Amino acid sequence: MFKKLAIGAAFALALAPVGSHAAGGGEQHIEDFQFSFEGPFGTYDQNQLQRGLQVYTEVCAACHGLKYVPLRTLGDEGGIGWTGDQVRAYASETFTVYDPELEDDRPAIPTDHFPANTAAGAPDLSMMAKARAGFHGPYGLGINQLFKGIGGAEYIASLLTGYTGHEKEEAGSILYENTAFPGGWISMAPPLSDEQVEFADGHANDLHHMAADVSAFLMWAAEPKMMARKQAGLVGVIFLTILASMLYLTNKRLWAPHKGKKH
Ligand code: HEC
Repeated sequence: MFKKLAIGAAFALALAPVGSHAAGGGEQHIEDFQFSFEGPFGTYDQNQLQRGLQVYTEVCAACHGLKYVPLRTLGDEGGIGWTGDQVRAYASETFTVYDPELEDDRPAIPTDHFPANTAAGAPDLSMMAKARAGFHGPYGLGINQLFKGIGGAEYIASLLTGYTGHEKEEAGSILYENTAFPGGWISMAPPLSDEQVEFADGHANDLHHMAADVSAFLMWAAEPKMMARKQAGLVGVIFLTILASMLYLTNKRLWAPHKGKKH
């Protein structure tokens, strides 16, 4: 909750205008989406991750792989949280993998990874939420990241919602203007639009919500153990606080007989 501190807020506000420019050229605009996993006590929102997985499966998987993510992790606590049966059904109904022993394709099983896919030069998304930073500056110092986080998920969500509708052709390929992409022009056509995916629970499926959902899912894909890491950090801080106060008291006690004496 650092960012809730008044001082922090004032500091961040003062720095924000200088800090939001991109190294790559064009003016980069990253929206500060509010995610449940932000802050030292943040946790993943299981329903959001499930919706994000659905968006990935129905839309992004056509071009992007997640080759470092094992399908069985969809059953992990603190993440998607599916049962073993749900994971098995999803794996076998959604993906086929090439099995060198069978010398043929077969339906995926939970011990397989999400397939690799680099259709049309699309990068693998397994680590994307950690490979991109939404917040920089000022002057490359990264001070905004101290208050807002690295912003990988914000970057992806801003990318998906940042299309202006302008296109241009360059060296035979079409580029789309995007306010979040460094340089301002990306070769990925706008992949998501309002109401493209129907959620079983009837959750809002406008572009903005779906972009946030799939970005949260990609954050989980890149850092499935984020909650365990934060918990360990918290235990560490509590432990160090107790240790420090005991050392202080010990120190005081040890020196007490010698304090206030002239000789
Ligand atoms: C039709 C194919 C296609 C689909 C569908 C698609 N993408 Fe892409 N995506 C691409 C290509 C191609 C690139 C490389 C663009 C470039 O570098 O100019 C890319 C790049 C990206 C990047 C990296 C941008 C960067 O900073 O380098 C992200 C993040 C991304 N896509 C997310 C998504 C998400 C999330 C979805 C689903 C909602 C999606 N994409 C659907 C083709 C696709």
